[in-house]
Amino acid sequence: MPHLARLLAQNRDWARTMQEGTPDYFSRLATQQAPEWLWIGCSDSRVPANQIVGLEPGEMFVHRNVANLVVHSDFNCLSVLQYAVEILRVKYIIVCGHYGCGGVKAAMEPENHGLVDNWLRPIREIAWLHQEELVSIPDGPSRRDRLCELNVLAQAIHVSDTTVVQEAWRQGRPLSVHAWIYSLRDGLIKDLGYRVSSPEAVENFRRR
Ligand code: CO
Repeated sequence: MPHLARLLAQNRDWARTMQEGTPDYFSRLATQQAPEWLWIGCSDSRVPANQIVGLEPGEMFVHRNVANLVVHSDFNCLSVLQYAVEILRVKYIIVCGHYGCGGVKAAMEPENHGLVDNWLRPIREIAWLHQEELVSIPDGPSRRDRLCELNVLAQAIHVSDTTVVQEAWRQGRPLSVHAWIYSLRDGLIKDLGYRVSSPEAVENFRRR
């Protein structure tokens, strides 16, 4: 129990500090959230979405799962996406992976990890698709890092292909999808160059 008590005590300290800094902080946040960004990231505890991009509560809508996957039959992720795009009207969707992702590593290993292997299956498919490039990278960690990048790019394409995003573009709404990757080593994010805001741009990226 002392471990949990510590969290609750820290919460009280935090709430007091925020209130002292800005007296209407909570009343303002409680009545509205108007985030411009949707973040789809990994559940990894070392990649806290808001914190690494310097955003406060209320500024970014967040969905996280193991290995930042966007699966077309995952109602959880799709519901977050729909709410973010249709109700909150976010302008930017960022899929952010990270180097050294345990999910990506597990997907490449031959051993059985149980249930999670089903979830990670799409990453194996990505590895098969890019097998030629991946086998040309001699050392294991670099090969895994490249697969982390390829996974983020694939998931950003999945986001772009969803009915939610396609419909927003059909209506001519400003909405762009981005693929980023975070390094646990230096805390820096790299833009993987996927910046797409129309169905044509997705096709162009696919054809590269
Ligand atoms: Co991860």
